[in-house]
Amino acid sequence: MTRSNSVKDYIRTIVDFPHEGIMFRDVTTLFADPRGFRMAIDQLLHPYAGLQIDKVVGLEARGFILGGAIAHQLTVGFVPVRKKGKLPGTTISEEYQLEYGEAVVEIHDDAIQPGERILIVDDLLATGGTAEAGIKLVERLGGEIVGCAFVVDLPELGGRKHIEALGMDVHALCAFDGT
Ligand code: PRP
Ligand code: MG
Repeated sequence: MTRSNSVKDYIRTIVDFPHEGIMFRDVTTLFADPRGFRMAIDQLLHPYAGLQIDKVVGLEARGFILGGAIAHQLTVGFVPVRKKGKLPGTTISEEYQLEYGEAVVEIHDDAIQPGERILIVDDLLATGGTAEAGIKLVERLGGEIVGCAFVVDLPELGGRKHIEALGMDVHALCAFDGT
């Protein structure tokens, strides 16, 4: 692994995964590198220095890894947004579009108190469908979203514009085009 000051250099691209024609941006190589992981957490937090954040919401699955580390760094609580059927308590849910069909994500209905200031975290922003579902869940519980932070943005898929159009502040550490 190259010793680099750029988070992007630690992200591996797997061609034709999960199916032909997809360039999969694999952040496991970033997470596995002590310098890369540290840089990612520090840079994800950078724009929010000095702002009040009460809780971090992480989107399943890789948002849990980032969100847990960020919550620890901030000494605040962590709340998971999970795929349907995984959370044991009473939940609220949101449907979102996948490439083929729909998916559902859920949050515990007592995980956020009205007025709490929330940072939403995931590894990657593509169409923005997952992030939008997470935003809706947080807002339905009365949370105030401080920002949405991602390691990777795929601008060609329009997620950033879509999420910004919802009035959200979007922070991404790097972008990949389709080539
Ligand atoms: C990937 C990625 C983001 C989401 C982005 O997760 O980790 O969460 O897709 O895509 P979108 O902006 O078009 O919604 P995936 O759904 O593959 O599930 P996983 O994180 O549980 O593996
Ligand atoms: Mg995901």
